[in-house]
Amino acid sequence: MNSETVEVKDVEREPITGQAVSVNMLKGGVGKSILALNIADRLSVRGHDVLFIDLDPNGHITESLGYEDVFADPTHDLTNIIIHEYGEFEEYIYPTDWEWDFVPASVKLSTLESELSDNSITLLKRNFVQPLLENEKYDYIIMDGGGEWSHIAKAAYGAAARTIIPIPPGDMNRSGFKRTYDRVISEMPDELDFKILAIVPNMITEYIKHDKADRRLLENLNRSETFSKYLPSFARIPPEDWDAIDSGKMDVPKPGLRKNSNLENALEEENMPFGRYIETQDSISQNDGLTLKHLDELAWIIERGGVTDE
Ligand SMILES: Nc1ncnc2c1ncn2[C@@H]1O[C@H](COP(=O)(O)OP(=O)(O)OP(=O)(O)O)[C@@H](O)[C@H]1O
Ligand SMILES: [Mg+2]
Repeated sequence: MNSETVEVKDVEREPITGQAVSVNMLKGGVGKSILALNIADRLSVRGHDVLFIDLDPNGHITESLGYEDVFADPTHDLTNIIIHEYGEFEEYIYPTDWEWDFVPASVKLSTLESELSDNSITLLKRNFVQPLLENEKYDYIIMDGGGEWSHIAKAAYGAAARTIIPIPPGDMNRSGFKRTYDRVISEMPDELDFKILAIVPNMITEYIKHDKADRRLLENLNRSETFSKYLPSFARIPPEDWDAIDSGKMDVPKPGLRKNSNLENALEEENMPFGRYIETQDSISQNDGLTLKHLDELAWIIERGGVTDE
């Protein structure tokens, strides 16, 4: 089966709203921010009320979207509401040009980081995320959980208990993924009912015929009993297909979220989500169409509460 022709089924099912998701991985530069932003945007395009929270102390998305002033503003300090339970939610939430709402990062995330400790892992959930989901203000809250391992990243995991994990090819990313799984996800307390919603092979450039990093990533994940069930349809290649690919009996697929320069340019040059950027173009290339379809599948996976019915 060619991964590009796999149809997303079960579209009739009611979306599971009231979920928060932390997009994270214990490794820099894997696509956490770009995926979190664009998944939030696609959920909003699909008709949901969405809040996107930038919890990365570097404020990459916050600055790229043009909220530099908020980033530099010491009064935009989530510590007040999350730790000291002081102030109103609205003070921290900004509208965007794209229907969804946004909690920008700020220089004060370092204060939040130092005031959160292991035993305050539930505060982000209790004092911010949960009330915003419970009073049905938002259907989904998507968090960019930040780069390195931190109290904030851990709090985001705890607040969401749902994660999407991007993983590009290469040994460093593989060990980052292993660290994330062994040290963080496996250690989440049972009562959180922690769930991986999807593992997303990202920045794939190669066909997967040759024994290169791209193939190793896709093949290892697809052959893994533990992880294959988290792969979106666009990254799935069933075990029996690998032989058919190698013997030339099957077209060589181009699975995974592909490296697409427009995905990067939309944010870095045009300061907007990818889908909004390609809407401004006269025509949509096949690559861009495919990238958008894959982002929509990730939004759909969140609506459905996972890739498979577990
Ligand atoms: N599929 C893709 N195609 C093209 N560019 C991509 C893709 N995924 C990520 N990128 C680019 O790679 C870089 C790293 O991605 P991103 O900033 O989202 O990663 P990150 O994990 O959030 O990094 P950090 O740890 O620094 O926060 C960015 O410039 C981003 O635009
Ligand atoms: Mg980032």
